Amino acid sequence: MRQRTRMTERWTADKIGDLRGRTAVITGANTGIGFETAKVLAERGATVVLACRDTAKAEAAAVRIGGAVTTLRLDLASLTSVRQAADDLRTRHPRLDLLINNAGIMIPPYGRTEDGFELQFGVNHLGHFALTGLLLDLLLEVPGSRIVTVSSNGHKRGDLHVDDLMWERRKYRRMAAYAQSKLANLLFTYELQRRLAATGARTIAVAAHPGGSRTDLMRHSPLHNRLGTNRLLAPVVSKLVQDARLSALTTLRAAIDPSARGGDYYGPDGWGEWTGFPVHVESTARSHDLDLQRWLWTESERLTRVTYPISEQTPAKEQA
Ligand SMILES: NC(=O)c1ccc[n+]([C@@H]2O[C@H](COP(=O)([O-])OP(=O)(O)OC[C@H]3O[C@@H](n4cnc5c(N)ncnc54)[C@H](OP(=O)(O)O)[C@@H]3O)[C@@H](O)[C@H]2O)c1
Repeated sequence: MRQRTRMTERWTADKIGDLRGRTAVITGANTGIGFETAKVLAERGATVVLACRDTAKAEAAAVRIGGAVTTLRLDLASLTSVRQAADDLRTRHPRLDLLINNAGIMIPPYGRTEDGFELQFGVNHLGHFALTGLLLDLLLEVPGSRIVTVSSNGHKRGDLHVDDLMWERRKYRRMAAYAQSKLANLLFTYELQRRLAATGARTIAVAAHPGGSRTDLMRHSPLHNRLGTNRLLAPVVSKLVQDARLSALTTLRAAIDPSARGGDYYGPDGWGEWTGFPVHVESTARSHDLDLQRWLWTESERLTRVTYPISEQTPAKEQA
């Protein structure tokens, strides 16, 4: 476990150097935190791929950002689309330095993905699990490459319902389903990192959470949106949410800071980790539960039918 960075060591986008020659894929980058992340990476010269479900929105975002930015159609609610996107990407970009699993949905009405998964678990976790597995061989070829997965403070209330992942036997609770999916983001990151390390890979898996951010994420909660714009509540709200550009710094630090190590988790340094500048933060004990991590990994491979090119086993030469 790492100590929180001291407040005085404020990490800003100014710390990001020249990224020319590097290629970054960001899911859900047409708006919100993903858009702001993509913008900074492109401003520093990276080749950036906006992997989005709506091509028109993605192309409009690419025009707004400018630079070496292209788009890729990716609907995380469809494993067919995820496979197609991975194929398209490897044709267009044989080198991949950064995969940022950012896209997410929060508290939509109960729904299922094309493959029958509960929508939030399917999009937020399983879609990204599949995409990462399908692109991992490309990342493994680039020393220092990273997989960054965006979780949430909401993971703290998360539980993994190993007996009913898809909410088929219990009453659907939207917030609990979101929390489950965001806990899964962390369980996945830590298990992935352990497997990468055991394989001797120079690719690392890192996680981040943005705190509270003014984005479209609350589109399914008109009440939250009303409270967020209420002038009387403004002093309280300002402690809980910040602009997406500032929120994107946690993702950017996880993606770029040379001192980041595999399994690190970044969040904002303010009260309750809601706002502020990125520092190391801790996730819950449950997110570090090895049995839960292993169980989720096996189940995710079974559900997505994506098998990773790395295993828990230490390579033979290290065992000797
Ligand atoms: N905002 C916050 O306060 C907050 C707090 C904690 C964690 N987070 C996390 O931060 C990440 C970014 O969220 P945000 O706040 O920037 O939200 P946002 O503005 O709603 O952006 C979410 C992005 O995900 C995309 N997306 C949704 N479903 C998808 C699918 N099936 N396939 C591909 N892309 C899909 C959206 O595309 P469309 O535009 O087409 O819908 C959009 O580009 C999420 O993982 C979220 O859980 C946010």
